Amino acid sequence: MMTPTRKTLGLAIALGLGLSAAGQSANAACTYKISNEWSTGLTGEIIVTNSGSSAVNGWSVGWQYTTNRLTGSWNAQVSGSNPYTASNVSWNGTLQPGGSATFGFQVDKRGGSAEMPTLTGSICSGTPPVTTSSSAPSSIAVTSTSRSSSSTPIVSGEQCNWYGSLQPLCATTQSGWGYENGKSCVSRTTCAAQPAPYGVVGTTSSVPRSSSVPATSSSRPSSSSTPATSSSRPSSSSVISTSTSRSSSSVSCSEGNNPSCYTSSSRPSSSSVPATSSSVVATSTSRSSSSVATTSRSSSSVPVGPRLDNPFVGANWYVDPIWSAKAQAETGGSKVSGYNTAVWMDRIGAIEPTDGSYGLRDHLNAALAQNANVIQVVVYDLPNRDCKALASNGELKQGVEGSTRYRTEYVDKIVSIFSDPKYASLRIIAIIEPDSLPNLVTNLNDPDCQAATDPTYGYIANTRYTLSKLYPLTNVYSYVDIGHSGWLGWDDNFGKAVTLIGDAIKGATGGVNSVAGFVSNTAGYTPLYEPFLDSLANSAFPGSGGGTQTRQATFFEWNPYFSEVAFVQAWRTRMIAAGFPATIGMLVDTSRNGWGGPNRPTAASTSTVLDTFVDQSRVDKRTHRGNWCNQKGGIGERPQATPAPGIDAYVWVKPPGESDGAASLELSFDPQDPAKGFDRMCDPTYTYSAGNSTVATGALANAPVAGRWFKEGFTVLVNNAYPALQ
Ligand code: BGC
Repeated sequence: MMTPTRKTLGLAIALGLGLSAAGQSANAACTYKISNEWSTGLTGEIIVTNSGSSAVNGWSVGWQYTTNRLTGSWNAQVSGSNPYTASNVSWNGTLQPGGSATFGFQVDKRGGSAEMPTLTGSICSGTPPVTTSSSAPSSIAVTSTSRSSSSTPIVSGEQCNWYGSLQPLCATTQSGWGYENGKSCVSRTTCAAQPAPYGVVGTTSSVPRSSSVPATSSSRPSSSSTPATSSSRPSSSSVISTSTSRSSSSVSCSEGNNPSCYTSSSRPSSSSVPATSSSVVATSTSRSSSSVATTSRSSSSVPVGPRLDNPFVGANWYVDPIWSAKAQAETGGSKVSGYNTAVWMDRIGAIEPTDGSYGLRDHLNAALAQNANVIQVVVYDLPNRDCKALASNGELKQGVEGSTRYRTEYVDKIVSIFSDPKYASLRIIAIIEPDSLPNLVTNLNDPDCQAATDPTYGYIANTRYTLSKLYPLTNVYSYVDIGHSGWLGWDDNFGKAVTLIGDAIKGATGGVNSVAGFVSNTAGYTPLYEPFLDSLANSAFPGSGGGTQTRQATFFEWNPYFSEVAFVQAWRTRMIAAGFPATIGMLVDTSRNGWGGPNRPTAASTSTVLDTFVDQSRVDKRTHRGNWCNQKGGIGERPQATPAPGIDAYVWVKPPGESDGAASLELSFDPQDPAKGFDRMCDPTYTYSAGNSTVATGALANAPVAGRWFKEGFTVLVNNAYPALQ
């Protein structure tokens, strides 16, 4: 549910501008509210309340504007093009007496003022509007502390903030980053008249990192001959085994001077963390092994009680209304807009934004309003985040300052919000720091990753801090990221990862009980199955007469895991063997690993040439398994609980349609998140060498900064969905 009062910070917001229509036969009241208005448009919500004494099953609301027009909506199925009809979606159709449903919408004012339409429909009467008691003045005050006065002259370095995937509303003459070397908006008036986040006039001290990013960024594959295993998000760079000389066991880390290896001597000690494994607290060992247990919690403070074995069983999944509206506005998007996607806390400012966008509490409140009980929140702001790549570089850097800010301004803040008793009924799935620990397994040749091994301020120390803080909240379920099979699947990487990630968790206060499990393929493209190849992953290529292993194919580079299900099941077994409880379960991000569409093979190839056989048989159509940026994949399995043994759920962690990174330097600056950079793995024109081949990144053109809406990318995902969308 939108919480306008919290969103007034620095924004032009009119509160509770509303009108009610008294209920008709169904005894419902329908209220039209404007939540946020700017010069050209507004967002609002319609609240349908059952004021009768019996339940309402299914509702619809109708309205018509004179000049205004709807441009988007969420949490309702809207049809028509003025007049409009909105009806309930699956999870908000039933209204108990006194209960209400709220759905949101966005309006283009089309040169007019904000209209207040009469609400009609199955349960609202067509009576004239009645202003609610909480209503604000009918004109909306566009005053804001974060907006600059429109009469102040422009100064050098100022800019209108806007984002790559959206229209540059502030500056019609600008393209690219939104400003050029101190050249700013056309005028402050133009800029300030725009709604946040577009129209904020600000001065940025950060210069786009472009100039410092050489054509050969750190993500560029090296021609290193280091005979180690390949890593994916890796760095396809770091090494690729050749198909002729390597076994899957790869080279041991003690061989040579391979900096990609994480030696025990360089492993951060656990002394830097809040607790060591010896201090494991046993209080949560009461986690039930049955699939669903009752949560009992205190209503006064931090919830207490056993965690569920699998928090996804019996899930009412939260639908993020912001993402949902964007999806619904695209062709075919309504087929996916009702699914759960994770909420990414990708910087401190995302927790309590001051620009009117949804913060953490807004999402949790909306989940409550939806009667949801499962919400996924991605914890993603470690110092030196995304150390190997540049596209999602974070705001914090290694060292005492970055680490202190991570703990106090980020983790503690999230924890204090999660601790609010009003959220105790929510099962909060915390996706812990995608790509971080896997980078310590394979990418220590990168100085930023090497720095992240710091025993006091590094990834492990801070991950332990996060897990230790979340552990007492028994409605929070932490799942630690483990990369994906195309990254950690090689025996050598797998073994090192089990040890490094297992030890990292054991060093948190809750020890092995700190986590509900692990998540793979976060924001990834690796398929769940390779239906025509999985059975050959550990056997000879049938066409070879027995002398060649199928995994020797160029595409698999000796990796014995061709796909995610086999990989995560093996991971779970290994972690249980390493001391983790049998209650741990796996998650796989299936938001973009569908690989359907016309290029999906329907049968195994009949070729007797290994590479041809594999290339024709595989559903994963990437040019290389290390490609991670804006691939031409498809929406994968829909979010669901217990899809396969050992797997708690398939989840959509990466919201389909959000970019992985900017396709070019020109598109790569986001004033709201200036740390993000340009990574050539997102550049469709870039090629690199992997093993004996030269491969293209396969990235889609024109993509905006990581996290921003990428319309064309969304369309590709919808068109290539597998299973096909209904
Ligand atoms: C970006 C985040 C974004 C997330 C989800 C990441 O790649 O760095 O900013 O929230 O993707 O789209």
